Amino acid sequence: MALAAFHHGLVAVAVAPAASSAAAASRVPRGGFLGLHAASPAPLATARRICCQSINSANVLGASSSKSDEAVPVPVVMIDQESDRDSTIVQLSFGDRLGALLDTMKALKDLGLDVTKGTVTTDSDVTQTKFHIMRFGRKVEDPDMLERIRLTVINNLLKYHPESSEKLAMGEFFGIKPPEKKVDIDIATHVVVEDDGPKRSMLYIETADRPGLLLEVIKIITDTNIDVESAEIDTEGLVAKDKFHVSYRGAKLNSSLSQVLINCLRYYLRRPETDEDSY
Ligand SMILES: *[C@@H]1O[C@H](CO)[C@@H](O)[C@H](O)[C@H]1NC(C)=O
Repeated sequence: MALAAFHHGLVAVAVAPAASSAAAASRVPRGGFLGLHAASPAPLATARRICCQSINSANVLGASSSKSDEAVPVPVVMIDQESDRDSTIVQLSFGDRLGALLDTMKALKDLGLDVTKGTVTTDSDVTQTKFHIMRFGRKVEDPDMLERIRLTVINNLLKYHPESSEKLAMGEFFGIKPPEKKVDIDIATHVVVEDDGPKRSMLYIETADRPGLLLEVIKIITDTNIDVESAEIDTEGLVAKDKFHVSYRGAKLNSSLSQVLINCLRYYLRRPETDEDSY
């Protein structure tokens, strides 16, 4: 899973088509073939089932949580590989509910990362906290580590702000309460490739979030012999929005290669889970 780095020119041109839709099962798959080592499927599956049961029985009793649901802001975790030359920037917001995030910093440091607190900005009701993260004096390039960073931040959010659980796809796997409205994976999945200069293209992916998604996506891209470098990895509640610089033999993707990549990604991202625990 080698990552090739390309830092070249600009110029955005063509856009490949995005969504089409077919009715299919809209379950959100679990970790996939590259699920993180940290995730232990069996207990999670059990926990999820228990959560679902309690939610269902609440519904049967007529309990409604739409009031509290509205009050809970959407958590956003953005991993930015572009803005700083030497460090990976992680930007985190959950309305105005986040404190100093010392535990999150500690959890990230426990992964062996150098973490410094960047700016904290408040814009209307949203407080954005930035961390600068380095590993071996450079930004983090390893997709496995990037996914660990993402899940570590989200796990801390779930731990200290359990109410975020129902707003995060990860709430279904690690939280106390799964999201009530799941994202329809067919509708939510968009894949677009644009030129980004002669030497590389920009790949945009939007899909239902799940643990291990980043690794899965990178595996799909590299399996088609395309070089990939992550640019931005966003988690916005239930949805993941990722940008990657991609290239083929040091050049941007031509139209046929772009289409192959788009079709591959759509196919895998929309595929219903195959290793689902049976009932
Ligand atoms: C696009 O690139 C691939 C790989 O180099 C090549 O096989 C294919 O013929 C190209 N297609 C077009 C339309 O240029």
